[in-house]
Amino acid sequence: MNKKITIAIDGFSSTGKSTLAKQLANHLGYVYVDTGAMYRAVTFFAMQNGYINADFFDKESLINSLPFIKLQFKFNFDLGFAEMYLNDVNVETEIRTIEVSSFVSKVAEVSEVRAKLVEQQKEMGKDKGIVMDGRDIGTVVFPDAELKIFMTASATTRAQRRFDELQQKGDDVSYEAVLKNVEERDYIDTHRVDSPLVKAHDAIEIDNSYLNREEQFQVVLDLVNDNTKTL
Ligand code: DC
Repeated sequence: MNKKITIAIDGFSSTGKSTLAKQLANHLGYVYVDTGAMYRAVTFFAMQNGYINADFFDKESLINSLPFIKLQFKFNFDLGFAEMYLNDVNVETEIRTIEVSSFVSKVAEVSEVRAKLVEQQKEMGKDKGIVMDGRDIGTVVFPDAELKIFMTASATTRAQRRFDELQQKGDDVSYEAVLKNVEERDYIDTHRVDSPLVKAHDAIEIDNSYLNREEQFQVVLDLVNDNTKTL
């Protein structure tokens, strides 16, 4: 029997991390955790409570509210993946809007927010057999993960993907606005003081600008198989 491992997938926004992670988890029978959804849910909470808007961010109130934020993933068998619940309410749709995307990097800069989420993420992965995607999984959450992937793609490729997704959902947004959001998030994610997005020294980099979903899946599956072969 193959041993169970921890798979950490980090990288820039809209590089297809979650598509790959879900595919891998389904194939391997592992748990999939989208840590971006957790930062998005905290951001949505801050928006609902008036702690953040385009020109204002009341960090103190958000920090004081952290004990009252309950985050859970509940598996939806019809959809085949887990959805995000904030204080027992399904917020899977609400957390994917461009408004949440435009504030989430600011919320993700707050060390107290990161500490709370990282603690919960470590707990979720303690039994291995997990695929977790985010920005700091291979560096902070699971520095000892057996397999670390770092995904990249050009900003324009990523903006086009995100634009297509939003259009399909009927979100009325311009390509330029999406590209600006992608570039702004890249900047904040790579320049924040606490846990900036960096490639772990032992991560394997995959630039998926020119790989389709199946090719990328196969590349990573081969790496998983190399790692899980029993002696
Ligand atoms: O993966 P995503 O685009 O849904 O992530 C949303 C934001 O959350 C992203 O701008 C950076 C932040 N994030 C983070 O700081 N650390 C993580 N582990 C995951 C996401």
